[in-house]
Amino acid sequence: MGVAIVTGGSSGIGQATAFEIAARGHGVILTYNGNERGARDTVGAIEERGGTAVALRLDLAESARFPAFVSQVRDALASVWPADRLTALVNNAGLGGGSPFVETTEEQFDSMGRALFRGTYFLTQHVLALLADGGAIVNVTSASVTTIERGGGYTVYAANKAAVNTFTQYLAVELAERGIRVNAIAPGATRTLISDNAFGRYAHLVPEIEKKTLLGRLGEPEDIAAVIAMLLSRDGRWITGQIIEASGGYQFGI
Ligand SMILES: NC(=O)c1ccc[n+]([C@@H]2O[C@H](COP(=O)([O-])OP(=O)(O)OC[C@H]3O[C@@H](n4cnc5c(N)ncnc54)[C@H](OP(=O)(O)O)[C@@H]3O)[C@@H](O)[C@H]2O)c1
Repeated sequence: MGVAIVTGGSSGIGQATAFEIAARGHGVILTYNGNERGARDTVGAIEERGGTAVALRLDLAESARFPAFVSQVRDALASVWPADRLTALVNNAGLGGGSPFVETTEEQFDSMGRALFRGTYFLTQHVLALLADGGAIVNVTSASVTTIERGGGYTVYAANKAAVNTFTQYLAVELAERGIRVNAIAPGATRTLISDNAFGRYAHLVPEIEKKTLLGRLGEPEDIAAVIAMLLSRDGRWITGQIIEASGGYQFGI
C-alpha cells in the first residue's frame, strides 16, 4: 500500500483521511501546525487500530523550511517503515475565513495566499523527488470556487482554491509521464474546526446550509476522506486531472 503524506492531519478532513487510508493499509506521515495534541491523537488512534503513523510539524507559509521537512520525511520513511519512497501526497492543510473585498488588506491577501496556494505549490515541488512513479497527489480545494455564495467575503479564499484547481490540472499533464495521477477534491460545507470552529460557533446557520444541500445535511470529514481514499486507491487508477466536488449537492439546481 505504501506511505502517504497527509498535510493538516491534526483535525477535520486531514484527520479523517489519515484514519481512512491507515485502515486501508497505508502508512501515514501527517502534519500539524499549531495543534500538536490533535496530531498526537491522530497518531495514537491509528496505532491503536494496528496502523503506523508519524506526525511532523509543517507551516505551509514557511517555504524556507520545506527542505528540512523533506529530510525529516526521508528519515521517517527509512526508520519507521522502512521505505525510500512515498506513494501519495494529500495537500489538505488550509485555513478558512475572509473579509469583504473593500476591507481586505494586502497582509490578509498575502498570508492566505502563502498558505493556500504558494505553500501547496512549493511543498509539492519539494516532496516530488520522494514520490514514487505511479503515485498519486490529491489537493483539497473547495466547492466555493464554483458555488458562489451570496454572502461574499470569499474573494481571496476562493480565488486561491481556484488557483489550486488549475495547478492540479496542469500538474496532471506534467506528471503523467511518471504515471503520477493528480486530482483535486472540492468539499462543500464540512463539519470541522475550520475558521476557529465556525460550524460550532455559528450552529444556528447550519439548517440554512442543510436546506441548500440536495442530500439535506452538513458534510462530515469522513464523507470527504472516503473520496480521497478512493482517489489514492486502485479504484481511482483511471482518474487524473479532475476536480471532484463532494458536497452532497450543495446549491445544486438552485
Ligand atoms: N470544512 C469545510 O467546510 C471546508 C470546505 C471546503 C474546503 N475545505 C478545506 O479543507 C481543508 C481542511 O480543512 P478542515 O475543514 O479539515 O479544517 P481544520 O479542522 O481547521 O483543519 C485544518 C488543518 O490544516 C492545518 N493548517 C492550517 N493552517 C496551516 C498552515 N499555515 N500550515 C500548515 N498547516 C496548516 C491545521 O493545522 P493545526 O490545527 O495543527 O494548526 C489543521 O490540521 C482546508 O484546505 C480547507 O480549506 C474545508
